[in-house]
Amino acid sequence: MVRSLRRLEYRGYDSAGVATIHDGVLLVEKDAGRIDELNRRLGFDKLLGDVGVAHTRWATHGAPTKVNAHPHTDCSGKIAAVHNGVLENFLQLKKELTDLNHVFSSKTDTEVIPHLLEEFLKTGENLETAFVKMLRRLEGSYALAVISSTNPGTLLAARKEAPLIIGVGMGFNMVASDMTALLDLTKEMVFLHDGDAAILTKDGFRIIRVESGQIVDRPVKHVELSVEMAEKQGHPHFMLKEIFEQPQTLRDTLRLQRDYVDLLAELLDKGRVIFLVGAGTSYNACLAGSYQLSHMARISTYPVIASEFIPNYGGSLGADSVVLAVSQSGETADVLNALEFARMRACTILGLTNTVGSTLTRVSRAYVLQNSGPEIGVAATKTFTSQVLALAQIALRLARLRGKIAQFEMDEFKAELAKVPRVVEEVLARCGPDVQELAQILAPKNFLFMLGRGVSVSTAYEGRLKVMELSYIPCIAYPAGESKHGPISVIEPGVPVLFVAPPDEYRKLNLGSIMEMKARGAYVVVLGDAADEELKQLADFYIGLPRVHPLLTPIPYAIPFQLLAYHLAVLKGLDPDKPRNLAKSVTVL
Ligand code: M6R
Repeated sequence: MVRSLRRLEYRGYDSAGVATIHDGVLLVEKDAGRIDELNRRLGFDKLLGDVGVAHTRWATHGAPTKVNAHPHTDCSGKIAAVHNGVLENFLQLKKELTDLNHVFSSKTDTEVIPHLLEEFLKTGENLETAFVKMLRRLEGSYALAVISSTNPGTLLAARKEAPLIIGVGMGFNMVASDMTALLDLTKEMVFLHDGDAAILTKDGFRIIRVESGQIVDRPVKHVELSVEMAEKQGHPHFMLKEIFEQPQTLRDTLRLQRDYVDLLAELLDKGRVIFLVGAGTSYNACLAGSYQLSHMARISTYPVIASEFIPNYGGSLGADSVVLAVSQSGETADVLNALEFARMRACTILGLTNTVGSTLTRVSRAYVLQNSGPEIGVAATKTFTSQVLALAQIALRLARLRGKIAQFEMDEFKAELAKVPRVVEEVLARCGPDVQELAQILAPKNFLFMLGRGVSVSTAYEGRLKVMELSYIPCIAYPAGESKHGPISVIEPGVPVLFVAPPDEYRKLNLGSIMEMKARGAYVVVLGDAADEELKQLADFYIGLPRVHPLLTPIPYAIPFQLLAYHLAVLKGLDPDKPRNLAKSVTVL
């Protein structure tokens, strides 16, 4: 079990734990730390038993501590559960269960699972039925596995919007959220579908549809993949895997913890002046956030590059200043330095991050977790789109709090938010071949020029950063309206100009800028609406994208840039996962 667990460490590594059943007794060992160190200290591989669950954690709810580590147990100490995903209704379930005298020890969403199952078992149901009934109460995403000392030969598992695979062995069966954990033991696998529950014993398994209770057959597939390929879910690089994960990560970003978003919105509302501070990609998300906050909540904010925060605004900060720091890692030195300075001047510090337990979460009065899961590629991809989606939800909440939005507008925007993961799925399904072709055209170029207007300036900036950091082709990006004030002088025949031109209120102006560039012989690439025939005619190369709310366009429109950056790197023989001179988390000033 420890070897399999180690294989999953690339997905989460802040704490780990194992539970087994031996002689009818549930044994649990867990703590914060890396697997090998914990195994040495706690002896995971010495736990006896024929059935067990194990987990290595990437925290989403609650800091990486011993109590928050999985497995989680019920009050009786008979049930143990491990879980990946985000449970949306855990606070409501926790309250119901606390009212029924269940005692919780962690801050995780997962802990409701064993307690809820315990509650269903009290009604006299057998383990399998109680498990399915318990699953029907869960809202959100999950891949989970449960054992109970009342049924020592059984392993229960289920999936919804998170991967879970059965490994079929000779005299054993197992489940894992990733093939990598199974490949050393078996190559025969059953891929569970969303809404499946599985009941496993060492000799066999049954799959039940959670909603209908029907038993279904799923084929056993022979998988010939190396562990290395499986870690990347069959993709050649982590970056590509992470780009393709976005429909799911965005679904999880729609499941922000409501209480914390409310608190963050309330604290933002109290500020006389609001700064959105980030570095690199996170700064680009701040820029998108400032447009969203201005349009939705009618509030002006300053998006600031973290390293320039003190030089530019340090002199004017005070107790009425609010700083919302956006940082995937929560550890970027430029961001933390800006926050320390702001904290000393009594500013309110808020955070949006992907990393529970990071320094940002510790210094923030309130923070929201974006739920993107670990990002291994040095280039930020899925974490950018999640940041933009999280900021849009914060903007909506603030708009509501400030009474700046009508009910119908709020409902419409909520529907637009909900649509985003499907739109991204469509983009990923459709634009791959076009982007590959574009990469072939652009690979020999000496430099690229990106332009956009309104919120699309953030998309153009993010496109510039992605392409530049991965392909090493120098890129410049400007607000399109600014290009005529100087940058246009670099245009000569054949220079590639990439326009981000969604069907928003700036489309006409973009059209004018495109004409200006074409008149000077530029090679014009347009990212625009799939149905925009006029732009299609004008462009030398057109990438058509599905329609979303104008304030959400940085999400689908960033994706062709991510793919372009990836393909340019591959074409140039570079490693897209590890661009030179860069680190995933920049902890120096
Ligand atoms: O962890 P953070 O979001 O604070 O990181 C900020 C930047 O260092 C990061 O976005 C960097 O620019 C990436 N290389 C972008 O792909």
